[in-house]
Amino acid sequence: MKVKRFGVSLEEEILNNLDNLVKTSNFPNRSQAIRHLIKSSLVEDKVYKNKIVAGAIVIVYDHHKRELNSNLMNVQHDYHDLILSTQHVHLDHDLCLETIAVKGKARMLTELADKIIGTKGIKHGKLVITDIE
Ligand code: NI
Repeated sequence: MKVKRFGVSLEEEILNNLDNLVKTSNFPNRSQAIRHLIKSSLVEDKVYKNKIVAGAIVIVYDHHKRELNSNLMNVQHDYHDLILSTQHVHLDHDLCLETIAVKGKARMLTELADKIIGTKGIKHGKLVITDIE
């Protein structure tokens, strides 16, 4: 992709904030940090406009919890057209880590994530959405 340069004028305080972000997030330079911020904002805009996006739902749960496995399976079958793959890792004797790769309309993905993460017995869950363009 062709890279173009442009000048940006910022208040000193905002520029200091940007430099702090570069440092704390280990961006190689300001350009990469600004690129990341613009991309994040574009993804947010796509979610707001309910465009097609992709992402992953990550959940941690105790597989001994009654009916949790079948409830999770039911939800995933209800939304099978959004799910690309499911990876299940047995973390230890009790805990499972599941990564569900998803693609589809943003609002459908958040609806699915809310249902999965809200399933009784899930310890923690998070949906990460990214742009596919
Ligand atoms: Ni497991």
